[in-house]
Amino acid sequence: MNVDGKAMRSIWVEPDGWSIGVIDQTVLPHRFATVRLTTLQEAAHAIRAMVVRGAPLIGATAAYGLCLALRQNTSDDSLERSYDSLLATRPTAINLKWALDEMVAAVRNRPRDERSAAAYRRAAEICDEDVAINTAIGRNGVALIKAIAQRKKAGERVNVLTHCNAGWLATVDVGTATAPIYLAHDNKIAIHVFADETRPRNQGASLTAWELAHHGVPHTIIADNTGGHLMQHGLVDLVIVGTDRVTAYGDVCNKIGTYLKALAARDNNVPFYVALPSPTIDFTVTDGVAEIPIEERAADEVATITGRTADGRIETVRIVPDGSAVANYGFDVTPARLVSGLITERGVIAASRAALARAFPDRAGAAE
Ligand code: MRU
Repeated sequence: MNVDGKAMRSIWVEPDGWSIGVIDQTVLPHRFATVRLTTLQEAAHAIRAMVVRGAPLIGATAAYGLCLALRQNTSDDSLERSYDSLLATRPTAINLKWALDEMVAAVRNRPRDERSAAAYRRAAEICDEDVAINTAIGRNGVALIKAIAQRKKAGERVNVLTHCNAGWLATVDVGTATAPIYLAHDNKIAIHVFADETRPRNQGASLTAWELAHHGVPHTIIADNTGGHLMQHGLVDLVIVGTDRVTAYGDVCNKIGTYLKALAARDNNVPFYVALPSPTIDFTVTDGVAEIPIEERAADEVATITGRTADGRIETVRIVPDGSAVANYGFDVTPARLVSGLITERGVIAASRAALARAFPDRAGAAE
């Protein structure tokens, strides 16, 4: 996507040919800054500290993290240790494990002097594949928006509600939930996005809104608790969210609060769609609620809030009483029965075991 007229991805190989550049998502929307990653440890820290975040981008960063590790040491032992340390950075998004497995498969059976180059090749492919997949998700999902636009009166816009950030910043480029939105906007369909702020890290207010503003997509940031009210008043035509892991049966794990939006959507007959690239499907999991590990993050993320003061300083302030207990669950699981459909690179399909296995027989078969 474009940042101030310059085409960018969220991750790239620097001109030196080996170190990795990423956008520092912890300082957006107030500052645009990039970070250079030079070691496995720096890549792992970037994922853990959410300098980079979003399931597909976490996978791509881990892939390059393994490349950085292999530059230092190409032994089997080091490969195994690097795999384990990257895998431990964040537990919920399955793209992390998928990308690491792809990387190990690409280098494991090679002589040690070929491993580093093979790793960089596979990591670059993983990034290019992500962009191609998301572009296809956009093509498949835009049909849903077009169909709603055709039922509208002239001048009326299609209102889409989204949660968290499943935009190009969460992927290598284009985004998942945002792919159909950007394509609709580029095709001159009148579209407007309600972006949930998404406490505690505010990915909707700070990242989705920043992206949409840069692309010129009309949008409104809402407090997390607003979606149900908007749906009751007919102000949302369609919900599109991203996901961090989809089970073999179509349960959807996504940023905390997604489940509540799905319940409100069902109660108000608003279609609730999930956009996902196939590496986000985990065919080894059958019951999402019982089996997917839900990340619990530091209490400080809930107990404090960070923003820009009137004189331009970035400050973090405490917003809860001293001594109150705080819980910080990062994700929740929306059961397949509440999902109207899955927008994938192979079409819009039902959130069911049969539909997932039919669309992705290669992945489903490998997990059996
Ligand atoms: O905790 P984060 O910011 O890494 O959250 C992940 C997400 O970005 C969302 O859950 C998103 O909707 C899925 S990733 C395209």
